[in-house]
Amino acid sequence: MGSLLGPFESRSTLFPQRDERQRLNDWLTREMLDVSERIAAGPVTPTLDLESLRTELSKFDFETPRPIDELLSWTIDKLERGIVHLTHPRYFGLFNPAPVFPAECADRIVNAVNPQLASSATSPAAVAIEAHVIRAVAQRAGLPKDASGHFTSGGSEANFTALLCALTHVEPDYAQRGSRAFTGSPVFYTSRDCHIAWLKIAHQAGIGRLALRLVATDGCGRMDTAELKSAIAADRAQGHVPIMIVSTAGTTGAGVVDPLPECAVIARDQGLWHHVDAAWGGAVIASDRLRGLLRGIEQADSITIDAHKWLATTMGCGMFMTRHPNLLSTVFQISAAFMPSNIAGLDPYVNTAQWSRRCLGLRLFLALGAVGWAGYAAHVERSVALMEGLKQQLIALGWTAANDPVLAVLCVEPPPGGAPARKIVERVVASGRAWIAPSRFEGRDVVRICATHGESTVEDIAQLVATMESARCL
Ligand SMILES: Cc1ncc(COP(=O)(O)O)c(C=O)c1O
Repeated sequence: MGSLLGPFESRSTLFPQRDERQRLNDWLTREMLDVSERIAAGPVTPTLDLESLRTELSKFDFETPRPIDELLSWTIDKLERGIVHLTHPRYFGLFNPAPVFPAECADRIVNAVNPQLASSATSPAAVAIEAHVIRAVAQRAGLPKDASGHFTSGGSEANFTALLCALTHVEPDYAQRGSRAFTGSPVFYTSRDCHIAWLKIAHQAGIGRLALRLVATDGCGRMDTAELKSAIAADRAQGHVPIMIVSTAGTTGAGVVDPLPECAVIARDQGLWHHVDAAWGGAVIASDRLRGLLRGIEQADSITIDAHKWLATTMGCGMFMTRHPNLLSTVFQISAAFMPSNIAGLDPYVNTAQWSRRCLGLRLFLALGAVGWAGYAAHVERSVALMEGLKQQLIALGWTAANDPVLAVLCVEPPPGGAPARKIVERVVASGRAWIAPSRFEGRDVVRICATHGESTVEDIAQLVATMESARCL
């Protein structure tokens, strides 16, 4: 027994002393700065041979320990050459940002003190900071002062929370009896251009994927409200139970905003929950100039905004907010003798889908604290200006803009005669000079480009245009 309590061989590696920690931390800090510079100067796409990675991985049998220095260098090298670089200024991708520095600082702090955010008794300061940030964002979006919410792992968890809230709000017995509590099958509505994770969410909530009604768009990518009304009426006629309308404020494919005020009115008239999925587009609430694009968001029953998208925190940082402050503790109520507190409206484990929780909100707290809403306004306005400039350049070269990049997402069609959109995207990505995506807009293939990096420059845009042009003419 005595020897079990003495120093063990791996202790100095698992729990190094201060000098060793400092040595490795300093080395990592310097090394990661070098890596960032190399990434920005190199290809956006992976160059690593996956076969040789698998061979190397097969040698990690986890029987023979290896020196930590060697492991760190090995891992950094693999990630440097083995991923699409979201931190590259010519990654014009799927809403995944290059993280802002204050968010990285937050992660360092959180990594070191590792707060457990399940209960306010364990981490009172961290819970209070997160709650403060959520209130500030909810109020900036126009929700009432007593609106509540929390940080989530991302937009999908936030949207899942919205569906659970809607189901419980419309039928409180759903909490106990699930779908069986309803007199017919519960159904909900969103546009066919929504983020399609709603299918998985319907599955998780136990109402089944068939519960999702994908409403047609109006030719400009917005949910067609006449179609929405007819779909609700048809469902009622068949004995189904409409629950919720989800408007997307910034579609994933094209950054289009559904008609929020009209959807709010339909939801109110029909007694339905109105959720606004502003996972990406919600960031424009920071800008006095652009926030009008989301007019009507303030009437929502609930809102999703991802901090890890346009607000550019590190990954795994969504937000859910609702104007019904007590509902979350009805949906997620639970008690366990071992938990040190159980406070409705405060303790995250009784108000959110998660139990053990990482402190996420510090990322946005530090970023907002350091630059304020005005700082973020400049960030989002710059992205929109970059995409508007890109649109003008491509139009001058004969391309057609399928949408207006009001939320920094541009969808374009190439001029006739050259390669089609999908081929162009394939070639651009294969070149490693930029990363863009194929998409569909109103039934047409388009090239989708989004300003996700706060430091992309007009030179980066010029390089993108040149790469797209040569991919088109190859
Ligand atoms: C509009 C919208 N909603 C939800 C999501 C899902 O968010 P997450 O990937 O953070 O789960 C996305 C992701 O791009 C999105 O664009």
